[in-house]
Amino acid sequence: MGEVMEKTTGTARYETRGEVALVVLDNPPVNGMGYTVRKAMLEGLDRALADPSVKAIVIAGAGKSFSGGADIREFNTPRMLLEPGLRTIISAFEASPKPVIAALHGTAMGGGLELPLGCHFRVAAKGTQVALPEVKIGLLPGAGGTQRLPRAIGLEPALNMIVSGAPVPAEQLAPAGLFDEIVDGDIIEGAVAFAKRVVAEKRPITVLRTRKVKHDNPEAFLQFARNSVKTVAKNFPAPLKCVDAVAACIDKPFDEGIAVERELFVELMASPESRALRHAFFAERAAARIPDVPDDTPRRKIERVAVIGAGTMGGGIAMNFLNAGIPVTILEMKQEAIDRGFATIRKNYEGTVKKGRLTEAKMAERMALLTPTLSYADLAKADLIIEAVFEEMGVKEKVFKELDAVAKPGAILATNTSTLDVNRIAAVTKRPQDVLGMHFFSPANVMKLLEVVRGEKTAKDVLATVMDLAKKIRKTAVVSGVTDGFIGNRMLRYYGGQANALVEEGATPQQVDRAMEKFGMIMGPFRVADLAGNDIGWSIRKRLYVEDPSMKRTIIADKLCEAGRFGQKTGAGWYRYEPGKRDAIPDPVVDKIIEEGRKAMGITPRKVSDEEIVERCVYALVNEGARILEEGIAARASDVDMVYLTGYGFPLFRGGPMLYADSVGLVTVKRAMERYRAATGDRFWEPAPLIARLAAEGKTLT
Ligand SMILES: NC(=O)c1ccc[n+]([C@@H]2O[C@H](COP(=O)([O-])OP(=O)(O)OC[C@H]3O[C@@H](n4cnc5c(N)ncnc54)[C@H](O)[C@@H]3O)[C@@H](O)[C@H]2O)c1
Repeated sequence: MGEVMEKTTGTARYETRGEVALVVLDNPPVNGMGYTVRKAMLEGLDRALADPSVKAIVIAGAGKSFSGGADIREFNTPRMLLEPGLRTIISAFEASPKPVIAALHGTAMGGGLELPLGCHFRVAAKGTQVALPEVKIGLLPGAGGTQRLPRAIGLEPALNMIVSGAPVPAEQLAPAGLFDEIVDGDIIEGAVAFAKRVVAEKRPITVLRTRKVKHDNPEAFLQFARNSVKTVAKNFPAPLKCVDAVAACIDKPFDEGIAVERELFVELMASPESRALRHAFFAERAAARIPDVPDDTPRRKIERVAVIGAGTMGGGIAMNFLNAGIPVTILEMKQEAIDRGFATIRKNYEGTVKKGRLTEAKMAERMALLTPTLSYADLAKADLIIEAVFEEMGVKEKVFKELDAVAKPGAILATNTSTLDVNRIAAVTKRPQDVLGMHFFSPANVMKLLEVVRGEKTAKDVLATVMDLAKKIRKTAVVSGVTDGFIGNRMLRYYGGQANALVEEGATPQQVDRAMEKFGMIMGPFRVADLAGNDIGWSIRKRLYVEDPSMKRTIIADKLCEAGRFGQKTGAGWYRYEPGKRDAIPDPVVDKIIEEGRKAMGITPRKVSDEEIVERCVYALVNEGARILEEGIAARASDVDMVYLTGYGFPLFRGGPMLYADSVGLVTVKRAMERYRAATGDRFWEPAPLIARLAAEGKTLT
């Protein structure tokens, strides 16, 4: 906490320009309205009011923007609640007998827009973006935004802004009445000039609170809004509460409307969904930092990238860099493979062009950044080389020896392996400090997650560079230590294991999928398996059966593969698929395979409840996640959650498996694990020591 207190030391500077007082928010990077800033704003106002020579007050922001609203560094700290709060400040500026002009530039978000709404006049620099984005963290604007914005720009546009949280250009809102002037040039000078005119013309002070919202049929519009919001945001309560709050500006006096807004805000603050969204918001920021890698670690320059292998992954990986304007050289063994890879990338872009989300010109620009080669010599200039060849240690070793010979000193060498030992791959080079894993997810140009695999010898500046680069190519990067399957797939193995066991015991794949989808997973485990290909797991199992003959066999899944049912790509897996379609259709053939499998295992099927399905699948993730944490493979519980939210379709409204376990309560989770341990005899269900300890101490994972 001490550290957080230290950091929130912004201020609001005070100065005068003739008869105009300036209060300038100054708290880099976005002028967040932390405690010290809030205090200084109020002091500035009082000073201006006490000075008889001051006739008007301009409130503006230093640096690149007006204000990003609340200071997120203060979230969940007592300082956030210290008076003067933002609502107090807004009331004070609103009540000022001298005219107050808000001068916006850059961005004005959340509280950074609610404050101007309480001012008497607003001017904005050209290109300013404004937003009330609270809904994105499961909240609503809680400092009068829901009552003042509709009074400023009308019911419909205000509701759209509040429910979507999306930024809108100031120019678009000026005609609606949000801005008295759009300033071309220096915002402070423009605002001071405007203030002088207000004084000279003796313009009357107007406040939004006394205005009435005009609309022909507000009831019908609000009902329409409620209906559409309900279907779009079915697992999130905030959008609907936003509508309820805005509705209060229609039929209630301002102060009562504010009370409604407050009440709904407090309700949302306590909701599990908002907790999950705020957790994810901070988890994403936390994941970017590595505990033992200082923020000021020097970065290596990444201006040219090379990719080895133009298959499923190599092509997608290359696209990420092309999209970010970084040139990519792609190496293959044969011309045909290069041609195939190029054609796939082109087809991908053409699809986006067809959907209207990319122009032909942009596509041509991106394709022009791509250079094919068959020769390692062409990789000599690359700053980063990512290997995405066949998943075989022998092949990888050969590639890394070649790379060691041609790559320039200081080039970062990455492998996209999903299962192989990154330390072993690094060890074939003379520069293991430059080697790490960059584990992309398929399709690599779409999926947000990037597991950055830190080898034993990976240098800190290599890690820092790749974490920065991940942001540039719009990935959510999470650092994982070297372990079989890294964070995500290692946990998935146990999740899939439970799904299979549940079918062995009596559930159907459809029931398991339905239960997990009802829980919120984007896709149930069997539909995912059919999509990813059942043969991958099968070949791993076959290897493990040989290595460890005592291993429990996954008989039903094996039988499925023996029947050639590899999933969508073979038209059949746990479900069957019509040619060219992706709908999973239950198949009696599978029921038969399951029945035979159970017989072979001597299992009499029983009725399995949906509740058991969800508990066993999710708690399997939790238990293995806790082991991963304890081993230091993941740095924090929220990193594990980020992996599942961005790479595995875990429901955002639940915040990830670790936060979910915390919200259920670790004592309850642990007791359930012990129950499953007793019932199934499966040693996996021994609660991870971390869970046992935290449960005993009444603590949480996150
Ligand atoms: N497919 C996935 O879902 C996925 C996800 C994450 C990671 N991975 C990993 O990515 C890597 C590639 O997988 P993929 O699915 O793209 O495979 P793929 O078979 O689609 O592509 C591999 C490509 O590498 C080329 N290649 C093989 N040896 C080569 C060499 N010595 N030099 C140059 N090119 C060579 C092949 O011609 C082929 O085009 C594997 O390590 C895999 O484990 C795959």
